[in-house]
Amino acid sequence: MLCLGIETSCDETSCAVVADGRRILSNVIASQVSSHAVYGGVVPELASRLHISIIVPILKESLFEAGVSLREIDLVGVTSGPGLIGSLLVGVEFAKALAYALGKPLVPVHHVAAHLYAPFLLEKESGATTQEFDYPYLGLVVSGGHSSLVYVHDPLHYEVIGRTLDDAAGEAFDKVAKLLGLGYPGGPIIDRLSHEWNAGYINFPRPGVRSEDCDLSFSGLKTAVVRYVREKTKGERPLDAEEQKHIAASFQTAVIDTLLTKSERAIVMTGAGRVAIVGGVACNMGLRDEARRRLDGITFHIPSPILCTDNAAMVAGLAWHVYHAGSLTRHSFSDGARIATLTLNADANLPIV
Ligand code: KG4
Ligand code: ZN
Repeated sequence: MLCLGIETSCDETSCAVVADGRRILSNVIASQVSSHAVYGGVVPELASRLHISIIVPILKESLFEAGVSLREIDLVGVTSGPGLIGSLLVGVEFAKALAYALGKPLVPVHHVAAHLYAPFLLEKESGATTQEFDYPYLGLVVSGGHSSLVYVHDPLHYEVIGRTLDDAAGEAFDKVAKLLGLGYPGGPIIDRLSHEWNAGYINFPRPGVRSEDCDLSFSGLKTAVVRYVREKTKGERPLDAEEQKHIAASFQTAVIDTLLTKSERAIVMTGAGRVAIVGGVACNMGLRDEARRRLDGITFHIPSPILCTDNAAMVAGLAWHVYHAGSLTRHSFSDGARIATLTLNADANLPIV
């Protein structure tokens, strides 16, 4: 069964074709980063307009790469939230029109749940890498909008162990990079600088690591960096390149330590034997290395970077499971055309069943 996935929740326009919920036939992603970089962050209105202008060519490319025609698609899955409301609207309306025209079912997919499905996808060129991974598992979701710890029972059942209290990990990376004058998006830039820097570091706080819970908060750490920079420069001079690297690497070390300390606590609390890290921040080389070191002894997986950042393959894969589980109630389909009545929700919680 071929599922077409559509993802437009933020600043990536993506269409993918996935066979039987696992095998990626194509996963085409158009990033808008260069258009937003001049503004130092994502401009929602601009993001929506760019999705509109590029979504048809991205669909065509994804079908071409998969070697299938639109008529061969059996199912359409689309991210329905959470995300930027205007961006979501473009993908959802596009998916609805497609599903209606093809007479195929449409499945709304939760964005964070889709990230948590990434460990199960088989990539075209290296199909064997993820076959070992299984449910249940503890997922650390670290993206621009979320840093949460979720116990994933199966593709449809989630238990939130730790919540995003304020700034998400990716958001903190982006804001700190902006403060240091490094550009946008901050995560990959700080990651690169941190790798270059191997001297001692500033001991920034690890927010909330002493509390008993697994919730994640990064706004305090961001404020600590702001204070440090103010003190250092007295507001009278820019930071030099060495100072930028030093602060970036120290900030990254604090984020990684916080994420892994909370993950270790969640492992103890849940007794999880498997862990995966997903979302854009899971691309971080320092986090990948340190997680491998600290989580030694348990089955552990981080998807390849292309499946960590926003992509439609994870949406198509999860849509297949949702469809087959029949968890779309009759009520959620309009008569005859089998089109789901989608509720757009920019702040939707995970679908805990
Ligand atoms: O999952 P994602 O593509 O979109 C959301 O759902 O938010 O994550 C985007 C976030 C951005 O904040 C970006 O700075 C961060 O992921 N990111 C990274 C790295 N690559 C992307 N953060 C740290 N290190 C990286 N290498
Ligand atoms: Zn995402």
